[in-house]
Amino acid sequence: MTKRVAIIGAGPSGLAQLRAFQSAFEKGAEHVELVCYEKQSDWGGQWNYTWHTGMDANGEPVHSSMYRYLWSNGPKECLEFADYSFEEHFGKPIASYPPRAVLWDYIKGRVEKAGVRRYIRFNCPVRQIEFDSTVRQFTVTVHDHKKDFIETSSFDHVIVASGHFSTPNKPTFEGFETFNGRILHAHDFRDALEFRGKDLLLIGSSYSAEDIGSQCYKYGARSITTSYRTRPMGFDWPDNWQEKPLLEWVSGNTAHFSDGSSKRVDAIILCTGYLHHFPFLPDSLRLKTNNRLWPLGLYKGVVWEDNPAMFYLGMQDQWYTFNMFDAQAWYVRDVILGRIPLPEKNEMQRDSAKWRTREEALDNDEEMIRFQGDYVRGLIDETDYPSFDIEGVNQTFLAWEQHKHDDIMNFRDRSYRSLMTGNQAPPHHTRWLDAMDDSLETFLNAPKRGSSAKKVSENSRQDA
Ligand SMILES: Cc1cc2nc3c(=O)[nH]c(=O)nc-3n(C[C@H](O)[C@H](O)[C@H](O)COP(=O)(O)OP(=O)(O)OC[C@H]3O[C@@H](n4cnc5c(N)ncnc54)[C@H](O)[C@@H]3O)c2cc1C
Ligand SMILES: NC(=O)c1ccc[n+]([C@@H]2O[C@H](COP(=O)([O-])OP(=O)(O)OC[C@H]3O[C@@H](n4cnc5c(N)ncnc54)[C@H](OP(=O)(O)O)[C@@H]3O)[C@@H](O)[C@H]2O)c1
Repeated sequence: MTKRVAIIGAGPSGLAQLRAFQSAFEKGAEHVELVCYEKQSDWGGQWNYTWHTGMDANGEPVHSSMYRYLWSNGPKECLEFADYSFEEHFGKPIASYPPRAVLWDYIKGRVEKAGVRRYIRFNCPVRQIEFDSTVRQFTVTVHDHKKDFIETSSFDHVIVASGHFSTPNKPTFEGFETFNGRILHAHDFRDALEFRGKDLLLIGSSYSAEDIGSQCYKYGARSITTSYRTRPMGFDWPDNWQEKPLLEWVSGNTAHFSDGSSKRVDAIILCTGYLHHFPFLPDSLRLKTNNRLWPLGLYKGVVWEDNPAMFYLGMQDQWYTFNMFDAQAWYVRDVILGRIPLPEKNEMQRDSAKWRTREEALDNDEEMIRFQGDYVRGLIDETDYPSFDIEGVNQTFLAWEQHKHDDIMNFRDRSYRSLMTGNQAPPHHTRWLDAMDDSLETFLNAPKRGSSAKKVSENSRQDA
């Protein structure tokens, strides 16, 4: 009997899974029936920008946390697909830090070429998944919004690729109820121009705080204050950017910090991360973890040890992204196709425990990058995913980190060599700080002479 496989989500991870199967089918593998349920009306996951916040047009919680003017926060050379280079997609080498629309286009290019869109049921949020151990089948219940119909189907395997940067972690602080300004979570941030001329407080000291603060600086916020719980980011920030220890309370418009200092602010953005949230899964199938490099319960980071007919993709904290999702998807595919046998549960748990012990001893970013690089390499060695220079990717990550510490507002002006084609990326035609238009067209083609991009940027920061 043909196996039936459900994939939950058509973001980069779910699409990697479709591409992995299609690649095997192309080489003559036995047929597997695939159904990918996607709650949004298009593919790309986080990279599919929406202006919506709160609920989407179907009354579903908005998935994407991305905002206008978001540019890749790491070099594209670190996430490049090994089976589809940027150069193949764009027909020429492009700069190393593309804006969101360019990365979305790249993600779409590979799956359009593979012809896998027909497997996806859009506007179909998964509501519930159950497992019947007598018949060893999953039942998946979805709400098809197009037909406004709730349907249930049976599958031999379920692959959860629903992402984990969508459900905001929302701490609260004394005085929030009576704060005289706007409070929002990074998930609901959309446009830095809203904060032009404003004094802004960001809680958190990770990527969202760094990047949303940088966007707001670029688009003319008057001042940025970031407040950390554990440690400051420690970059050489512009003069109007201060790092403070944790916020203790607010009164009126004044924020009070644990070092006794205070600051008047117009708006507060909680850049406090996200929760792994799977409301469609019962306890027996549900991954419960914080955002970390080795969540427990997942053999090889993907196989649900309590029921190895079920898999998760992309659930780790991420240095590696797109090519790690590929490595995972190719591995999961080969387990489902019976090419990779799985050990007994206690052996899977022993293996995971070893990775976890190693993860707990990691001391710095370099060790974390190498840890995830080793993980990706280990998966790739077990499948026919094209192998690539993982140490080269690690080195590119390390160079990126150094460049951020050298100059946090200009690191995106650097360029790197592709580990897939060996070609050096060209410098971008416009400094990131001056590039106000983040469209694909402007990124790929130098702006015409006399364009106002530079003027806008300088004026907005001077006005502020
Ligand atoms: C603000 C922000 C910026 C980022 N910037 C970068 C970056 O610069 N570079 C980088 O490499 N990574 C970045 N990331 C990380 C990003 O999460 C990954 O690049 C990638 O999108 C993860 O892919 P995914 O498919 O695992 O998850 P997602 O992209 O989150 O996709 C999950 C998909 O599952 C769908 N889904 C969820 N629940 C259901 C359901 N119940 N039923 C049906 N479908 C469902 C969603 O609609 C979505 O399409 C960023 C993340 C955020 C939040
Ligand atoms: N392209 C881009 O530029 C871009 C932009 C934004 C986000 N991203 C991506 O989005 C993902 C998520 O990043 P993220 O920064 O949102 O989440 P994150 O990396 O999980 O960091 C969460 C931050 O919130 C802090 N925090 C959590 N609970 C808190 C509390 N109760 N009080 C105070 N601080 C608290 C944490 O502090 P501690 O250190 O104390 O735990 C940490 O600094 C990353 O993968 C990142 O790459 C990319």
